[in-house]
Amino acid sequence: MTLKKFLPTALIALTPLMATSAVAAGLTVGFSQIGSESGWRAAETSVSKSEAQKRNITLKIADAQQKQENQIKAIRSFVAQGVDAIFLAPVVATGWDAVLGEAKDAKIPVVLLDRDVETGDKSLYLTAVTSDSVHEGAVAGEWLAKQVGDKPCNVVELQGTVGASVATNRKKGFDDAIAKHANIKVVRSQTGDFTRAKGKEVAESFLKAENGGKNICALYAHNDDMAVGAIQAIKEAGLKPGKDILVVSIDAVPDIFKAFMAGEANATVELTPNMAGPAFDALIAYKDKGTVPPKWIQTESKLYTPTDDPQKIYDSKKGLGY
Ligand code: AHR
Repeated sequence: MTLKKFLPTALIALTPLMATSAVAAGLTVGFSQIGSESGWRAAETSVSKSEAQKRNITLKIADAQQKQENQIKAIRSFVAQGVDAIFLAPVVATGWDAVLGEAKDAKIPVVLLDRDVETGDKSLYLTAVTSDSVHEGAVAGEWLAKQVGDKPCNVVELQGTVGASVATNRKKGFDDAIAKHANIKVVRSQTGDFTRAKGKEVAESFLKAENGGKNICALYAHNDDMAVGAIQAIKEAGLKPGKDILVVSIDAVPDIFKAFMAGEANATVELTPNMAGPAFDALIAYKDKGTVPPKWIQTESKLYTPTDDPQKIYDSKKGLGY
């Protein structure tokens, strides 16, 4: 799947084009953020604040601590406050129609950030700024297939939060990619909830169940934080992550580049933490000139491996709030 395929229906946010206007300066946006489960999430929150500041937008952030009910409360509170727009990073994909309907009735546009919702009524949100998360999983799976060639390879998978669009999609993309390779099999798959601690705990159980890890050829984690937790578990089991067990994950957080430098991780697919910048620009154009954005503003997904100058990438990312 290529980025080009989506060009007719989706705008691809590759370059940070910053829209500023008199309208932007007066806007107040409420952002219902999931929580701080991962380094990527922390960076998204931090980058959202700085992107708002650059445009003189007032950004009110509500931390939902991983709970959909808190996100629903936050949206209702933003509606009651009469904000100009609501940004929503939905923890899970379903169960949003009623509250998004309330925002729509109040004529407050909603922009989805980094995850999708499942709804039959797309008019409930203005646009979604997300990556193609099926593609991310496919990139990880194709990378692994290339690495192992014809060799048999048992994979253990750490899934993201159950019910989150990105967890479902990253699983699907990976499964589809390896389905073409009969030698590669996912032998265990469980949620690690996108956290480092849970990633480590679940990886420990995988290692125990798979002959101390000797039956495992690769670990695929839906985010880098879980991979970093798993790397620790692999080391504690007396194996070498990155060598005895290949490690491929998603996000491109600074710590995975440290793991590249230590030879303990092998590949990551980047998810930009700057979802808010393109969202603000779309919102400003909408408020300013009535320009209706495409339903999907797609962010870029890029594969990194240890040959990509990990020190340089680490240095460029470490100040972003990860
Ligand atoms: O929705 C994006 C995912 O959420 C990131 O990949 C993960 O790190 C985060 O928690």
